[in-house]
Amino acid sequence: MRVTMIGAGYVGLVSGACFADFGHHVTCVDKDPSKIERLNRGEIPIFEPGLDDLVAANVKAGRLSFSLDAAEAIRGSDVVFIAVGTPTRRGDGHADLSYVYAAAEEIAGLMDGFTVVVTKSTVPVGTGDEVEAIIRRTRPDAQFAVVSNPEFLREGAAIEDFKRPDRVVIGVENEHAREVMAELYRPLSLNEFPVVYTQRRTSELIKYAANAFLAMKITFINEIADLCEKVGADVQQVAKGIGLDNRIGAKFLHAGPGYGGSCFPKDTIALVRTAQQVGSPVRLIETTVEINDARKKAMAARVQAAVGGDLKGKTVGVLGLTFKPNTDDMRDAPSLDIVPALQAMGARVQAFDPEGHEARNLLSDVEFKEGPYDAAADADVLVIITEWDQFRALDLDRIKLLMRSPIVVDLRNVYRPDDMAARGFRYSGVGRGV
Ligand code: UDX
Repeated sequence: MRVTMIGAGYVGLVSGACFADFGHHVTCVDKDPSKIERLNRGEIPIFEPGLDDLVAANVKAGRLSFSLDAAEAIRGSDVVFIAVGTPTRRGDGHADLSYVYAAAEEIAGLMDGFTVVVTKSTVPVGTGDEVEAIIRRTRPDAQFAVVSNPEFLREGAAIEDFKRPDRVVIGVENEHAREVMAELYRPLSLNEFPVVYTQRRTSELIKYAANAFLAMKITFINEIADLCEKVGADVQQVAKGIGLDNRIGAKFLHAGPGYGGSCFPKDTIALVRTAQQVGSPVRLIETTVEINDARKKAMAARVQAAVGGDLKGKTVGVLGLTFKPNTDDMRDAPSLDIVPALQAMGARVQAFDPEGHEARNLLSDVEFKEGPYDAAADADVLVIITEWDQFRALDLDRIKLLMRSPIVVDLRNVYRPDDMAARGFRYSGVGRGV
């Protein structure tokens, strides 16, 4: 199959490289010349474990290329994916679809022969209909079908999620397009990963419903964590105790500072807006969004309490700034709320993150350090915001000696309260009221 990926961002790049690895011929197209130039030099613009090797191998095999020239790529393609951004629209919270529609128009002008146009970007219900209408308007004679095929890739584990998915969802209402999609994903169905075929609108909603449910699950355990602190219970044990029930499941029950990232915050608010618009509000998700926003902001108060109520003039060492480990992504990271709140309380912040280089442009008046020990040096309190593996194996005796006072606020429950107490730390985790 010949595949064009419009958009060489996170989703387009990972999906393009994985489809090439399945044996298809993939061209990733992007409008950003510097991005294409870097990719052609073998540089990967994002941090994603394993992606550099996967890209290199498939470029070498002649199955994967990068181009600015959409015309050449689209001509002769069996499948054209739209994998462009759908950021939150300023002002109203709806998904901004301008990049998707621009891509649809561009594809319409360039395609020849029967072409399957697939929306991989996360798009509100009905977007496939609009993409179809745009193409039809632009090229009344075109032979095509529009398909929805949402991605469920976790950053940091995206290749694994693509190649060993819980399921693939394909919203398709045209028989020929269905066959093309089946061929595209054949390596997965041969390995018996479930491929769910459904109507296009249903497929679009599945993506939002999945992300909203997961966001709600995290928010649920976060509220239970707060309750644990008040009543003297341990949220880790509660999560285990409920998670062993198959109907609930053990995953996504890790209490923390609130969810962030490029998907959950944006997709939950977009779902809320769609639901309001059609007069069928999703109140559980509205509340989830509210609780999560408030939670991220409230984390600084925990740090303030840990140092005895006043952060004025205190130095806070921060470990981890990205929204989760194994990514360099800072989008909607809890740290972007927590650090300014600490500063507003009078603290001086020094921080370390292994990959969160962009934090330098997003946070002001922070002293960026080269390693975890530098971030702990002379700190009055150390706050773990992101659970990078390297923070799990710290030399705690060294940390204790370096700090001005041995106080640790662990917003990811990396360490055990009893162990930390035995080592002489004043330690607080999340939801560990025992
Ligand atoms: C998510 C979805 O998992 C993926 O299927 C979707 O397509 C894109 O969005 P991602 O944003 O990469 O992926 O990260 P994920 O691992 O899901 O974590 C999202 C946020 O929730 C992070 O801030 C993480 O720290 C937080 N989280 C996750 C928790 O606080 N507790 C948990 O138990 C799980």
